[in-house]
Amino acid sequence: MDEKRLSSADELEELRKEVLSKRDPAKPIVTVCTGTACQIYGSLDVYQEFIDEVRKQGLEASVAEAKATGCHGFCEQGPVVVIFPQEICYVRVKAEDVSEIVGTTLAKGEVIERLFYEDPVTGEKIARDPDIPFYKHQMRIVFGSNRHIDPRHIDDYIAFGGYAALSKALLQMTPKQVLEEVKKSNLRGRGGGGFPTGTKWETTRDAPGEPKYVIVNCDEGDPGAYMDRSLMEGNPHAVLEGLIIGAYATGSHEGFIYVRQEYPIAYQNTVQSIEQAHEYGLLGQNILGSGFDFQVKVHRGAGAFVSGESSALMSAIEGKAGEPKMKYVHTAVSGIKGSPSCLNNVETWANVPLIIGKGAGWFNSIGTKESKGTKIFSLVGKVNNTGLVEVPMGMTLRELIYDIGGGIPHGRKFKAVQTGGPSGGVIPEQHLDTPIDFDELTKLGSMMGSGGTVVMDEDTCMVDTARYFITFCCEESCGKCIPCREGLRMLREILTDICEGRGEEGDIEAIEDIAQVMQDASLCALGTTAANPALSTLKYFRDEYEAHIKEKRCPAKACKSLTSYYIDPEKCTACMICFRNCPTEAIHGSKNMVHWIEQEKCIKCNTCFEVCPPRFSAVRRISGEPLPPPPAPGTKPVRDKKG
Ligand SMILES: Cc1cc2nc3c(=O)[nH]c(=O)nc-3n(C[C@H](O)[C@H](O)[C@H](O)COP(=O)(O)O)c2cc1C
Ligand code: FES
Repeated sequence: MDEKRLSSADELEELRKEVLSKRDPAKPIVTVCTGTACQIYGSLDVYQEFIDEVRKQGLEASVAEAKATGCHGFCEQGPVVVIFPQEICYVRVKAEDVSEIVGTTLAKGEVIERLFYEDPVTGEKIARDPDIPFYKHQMRIVFGSNRHIDPRHIDDYIAFGGYAALSKALLQMTPKQVLEEVKKSNLRGRGGGGFPTGTKWETTRDAPGEPKYVIVNCDEGDPGAYMDRSLMEGNPHAVLEGLIIGAYATGSHEGFIYVRQEYPIAYQNTVQSIEQAHEYGLLGQNILGSGFDFQVKVHRGAGAFVSGESSALMSAIEGKAGEPKMKYVHTAVSGIKGSPSCLNNVETWANVPLIIGKGAGWFNSIGTKESKGTKIFSLVGKVNNTGLVEVPMGMTLRELIYDIGGGIPHGRKFKAVQTGGPSGGVIPEQHLDTPIDFDELTKLGSMMGSGGTVVMDEDTCMVDTARYFITFCCEESCGKCIPCREGLRMLREILTDICEGRGEEGDIEAIEDIAQVMQDASLCALGTTAANPALSTLKYFRDEYEAHIKEKRCPAKACKSLTSYYIDPEKCTACMICFRNCPTEAIHGSKNMVHWIEQEKCIKCNTCFEVCPPRFSAVRRISGEPLPPPPAPGTKPVRDKKG
């Protein structure tokens, strides 16, 4: 018998106590984020440096440990280091900073102000991570453990109460009771559609046929979305624990974790967590002495957006091309090899141990009437604080973007937010006070989706945004059904024409007609929802489409074919800044001569506009009006450089 194998709830509890007893809560623990983004910024070196420095400075006895954790969420500030128990947060830490952190903060308990996060809005330097606005307004019930746990060590997960919910489910509840608890919690799927999880589990449990399968969907193909990757990397045991509980409730003894090929760390950590769970008797035969058996395999996805769709994903697991099939019956009834197969998203599974551990009542106390619990979003785009955020359902979009995201950079105006990824839509300013909830977002013509959230400012063209998402879906469509394949190709062509000044009367109506056919006749939800970005931008920003088509004008001055750059000779001080920064040497002039742009050489990269000091504002973007002639050669500036 393997000595690590746990055969009862008591043995699990004893192990938890034993791990905790080896830790002195008064001693500092350093957690270094080693999520994908922080690794790119060099966090593995930072982590190694902590191990070496603690030893070098003779502090092994006074520091509890240095831990490599998963993503903390505030990736743009990486590498992020948090020192517990005070929760001192240092951002953009380099390996060179570590000896000072060890000598000052760990040895003497003093803080290093230069490594604090600085609020871009107020300029305030903030010492503790719970006080940083980005974190302060969040409710991190699912994602919060990432900053505490080393995902490569099952003991660490167990020390934080991991697998206690599994023990409760297997040893104190019947499968039916587990199922009823999940139904009562009103948990809805976090992968896009918001389908009630308990109902899906029940369908699989009641469907005839054996074996039954349970599956984790970690395909996550939406551009800009990385919530599932970060959970799978940072807390794989939570997902695995949820999956085993789901297997027990649905009567399944075999499962799959489908991980996208491009997620190497998520894959490694998942495989390792499965091995460790086996060693501890939390997977395999007679789990925790309950008599319940369950095995799980990892399937590496081939990195196609469409393969995240349920029937496509199951075809891929069967070894076929990851393309959708016509669903005459739900995959919950007939999925992998025709067997009942219950597929849920990573975040959905990660909620399950919390629901079983804390109860459906606790879960129901968070959120809105129809959408319970929290949701993790990847907040990206034109917003001051970008990263992964977890908020209670019901928080408004305004709170998400302004309180957590810190608003729009450079004093620009908010224009819209795209939720739901390529199948979602844009939501304009007048709906910013809408509570985040599956049904509320759908009513606005968008959707919750898996959580990709792109904030756009006044410089974003809505036609170009639609073109971007349609192009993405066009490239990702499997091409099997004509409405999706040809519809997307036609939409891309029309939108490109509009953005490039070739739009014609009737284009808007053509978009609407094609979208209707795609919605009615596509094979899978990629096709039925792919026109949403075009329809929602048309719904809220039809005037922008009309300006492009009728006046050949891009109101946001973003479409390159419809925009020119011009230096106002009345405002130019001949400061040479744009002249020096232009990458194509399109700007002429000298220290004493106003500058002008040679239009044939200009690639419209926006550099001159960005570098021209705001006190001069001499560079103008022009769209839909004639370009003024350049100044006569040798024209002297009329303003001096002091502005
Ligand atoms: C084109 C397409 C791509 C999808 N990609 C994903 C994905 O990457 N991850 C995911 O969980 N669900 C994805 N879905 C939704 C799945 O089909 C399925 O509804 C979901 O995994 C069910 O889990 P849930 O009930 O927990 O949300 C996708 C759907 C479509 C149509
Ligand atoms: S990867 Fe480090 S905070 Fe996200």
